[in-house]
Amino acid sequence: MHADLEHLTEILTRARAEIGKVIIGQSPVIDQVLICIFSGQHALIEGVPGVAKTLLVRTLARVLGSDFNRIQFTPDLMPADITGTNVFNMQLNEFSLIQGPIFTTFLLADEINRAPAKTQSALLQAMQEHSVTIDRETYPLSPNFTVFATQNPIDYEGTYPLPEAQKDRFMLKIQMPFPNREEEIILARRCLGQESPERILEAGEVQPVMQGEDLVKLRQFLEQIHLKEELIHYLVDIVRKTRAHESVLVGAGPRAVQAWLWGSRVAAALDQRDFVTPDDIKSLATPILGHRLILRPEFEIEGLTVPEVLDSILQEVAVPK
Ligand SMILES: Nc1ncnc2c1ncn2[C@@H]1O[C@H](COP(=O)(O)OP(=O)(O)OP(=O)(O)O)[C@@H](O)[C@H]1O
Ligand SMILES: [Mg+2]
Repeated sequence: MHADLEHLTEILTRARAEIGKVIIGQSPVIDQVLICIFSGQHALIEGVPGVAKTLLVRTLARVLGSDFNRIQFTPDLMPADITGTNVFNMQLNEFSLIQGPIFTTFLLADEINRAPAKTQSALLQAMQEHSVTIDRETYPLSPNFTVFATQNPIDYEGTYPLPEAQKDRFMLKIQMPFPNREEEIILARRCLGQESPERILEAGEVQPVMQGEDLVKLRQFLEQIHLKEELIHYLVDIVRKTRAHESVLVGAGPRAVQAWLWGSRVAAALDQRDFVTPDDIKSLATPILGHRLILRPEFEIEGLTVPEVLDSILQEVAVPK
């Protein structure tokens, strides 16, 4: 393996270990979040209250040497509450910009579906363009600007669901499950022993494994990871099948292919390999495609779910040797 790539895989291994000091279990989630960041993309995170969504993003920011902000979306949140406003400064006799919370590296957009479309779109536009415009002036955002938007899966009342077209802008939809019994017992013990995960993070026991500005360079090393032509065909064929499936109204668009290619390379690096395997690709099928498919209502009424459709598509496409 090339030295650069080896350096990257070392960083990823250490990042996992440092995050694991705070977050108990949730290893598929931790990997998916790293996959997103190292692909330079954004993620939707879905999970009930209290599964450590906020804590995970805070921990990531510390470990990757980056800064962090959180915005709680509410029905009265205005676009300027996200981006910032120009305020008149009496002493200087001029307007000066008060930067909004979007001026950060890792942004946790909590309960994004609680704010109306206009506010959501201020964020979505910034995600796309990596800049914001305030009073006709355009300001660049951090080169590693990454949004983690949470949605609470049960609380639909009084919410504004993300338009389907906007979901496509998120590389992955990450499902954060409840901890299992063993993990929950470990968590309970730590909290009793004054070693709550928050305290571990705040006490400075978690070490950064890199500086924020290293990320751009580290990402380039991913290009050294081999992706066989057959695997590209495999992945493209799966995406194309989602558009042709009888139960699917809207299938995945071309962004899914791009995201999947990048993601499978990071998955290989996380496993310390310089080549992608069919399993790297398969393990990302649900997080990449799940939020991009809309089923036909008649099939949904029958009780068919997106994961079931994805399973059947994966069975239909032959895995390359
Ligand atoms: N897997 C876990 N590892 C470590 N701590 C955990 C884990 N699951 C839950 N916790 C603990 O649960 C509490 C809730 O965490 P956090 O506030 O990050 O949840 P959340 O998912 O952001 O919730 P909400 O949706 O209400 O914002 C924290 O005290 C955290 O220490
Ligand atoms: Mg939270």
